Amino acid sequence: EQTLFNKEKEDDSDQILSVLPRERGWLSEHFHLYQGFWCPTIVLKGLLILQKHFRAQPSDILLATYPKSGTTWLKALLFTITNRTCISHPDQNPLLTANPHELVPTLELYAAANPVNPKPPNSLMHTHIPYNSLPESTKSPGCHIVYVYRDPKDVLVSWWHFVNKLKPEAEPRISLAEAFEKFSKGALPFGPYWNHVLGYWKASIEWPERVFFLRYEDLKKEPCFHTKRLAKFLGQPFTTDKEGESLVSKVVEFCSFKNLSNLDVNKTGSHSVVGFRVIENKTFFREGQVGDSQNYLEREMMDHLDQVTEESFKKFHLKA
Ligand code: A3P
Repeated sequence: EQTLFNKEKEDDSDQILSVLPRERGWLSEHFHLYQGFWCPTIVLKGLLILQKHFRAQPSDILLATYPKSGTTWLKALLFTITNRTCISHPDQNPLLTANPHELVPTLELYAAANPVNPKPPNSLMHTHIPYNSLPESTKSPGCHIVYVYRDPKDVLVSWWHFVNKLKPEAEPRISLAEAFEKFSKGALPFGPYWNHVLGYWKASIEWPERVFFLRYEDLKKEPCFHTKRLAKFLGQPFTTDKEGESLVSKVVEFCSFKNLSNLDVNKTGSHSVVGFRVIENKTFFREGQVGDSQNYLEREMMDHLDQVTEESFKKFHLKA
């Protein structure tokens, strides 16, 4: 029965894959243009399963991000907010022995690896899928969505470093000019970036009780303030007394770039990611700064990206 079930899904996705526009990817994969965004093959297989079979539970929390926008940070922060007792028992904190990506599964990759039962056991999950393509049940009352976005210049530079680190030694590096061109055209996984952000932004305006929208740069500037807002949104507010305030500071401090990137598990550990081989945990921690892109991008590249962002976001009253 299981074989038949898999076969039915395989046939489905292979047929859809065969008719979609495709581009060669950066590593060994292809990208497919599906529902208006570029989707790596493995992700598309997972997504098709999710769109048919995923049933969110009312207590589920879904973190959504465009890649390189702060996923690792928010995975850690949401995990700690929702398991805050681990802060009071520091030696038992699961984040001391596992990278945030191991504790908070990315839905589409989980589904690709578990087609028969694509719902992870965790109630805290993550996705890179654009809002309009999410499984319908994630949009039902009770299920909370948290979206974080980041300055696209920093996203591009972060992604460029990341993908070059993942490339096998023998393969040539991707130039920044090439990465810039692809990013500007939207032809990177889950791109165009601007559509991704706006999809979640519009949903957060329409359903503020269901979709929380956060800017990486704002979280960097006022981490305690936004951590409290996040906890409140999730229905798990911190108390407003001295004890509550101290707990917020400890959560923020624990999830800071400095602390997480210095943990042994993130300095020397690794984990396997569906569709890749094994990824070293340190690959997810580079600088963790705002505006690092100015150390890499030409002035014209920065101006171009700023202009596209300004034009795209302005009409929807979103801060660039
Ligand atoms: P940089 O490459 O600019 O340093 P993602 O987690 O979505 O893949 O994004 C990775 C980016 O987030 C990287 O940015 C990484 O350094 C940064 N990052 C990882 N952990 C962080 C943390 N705890 N606080 C702030 N930034 C973090």
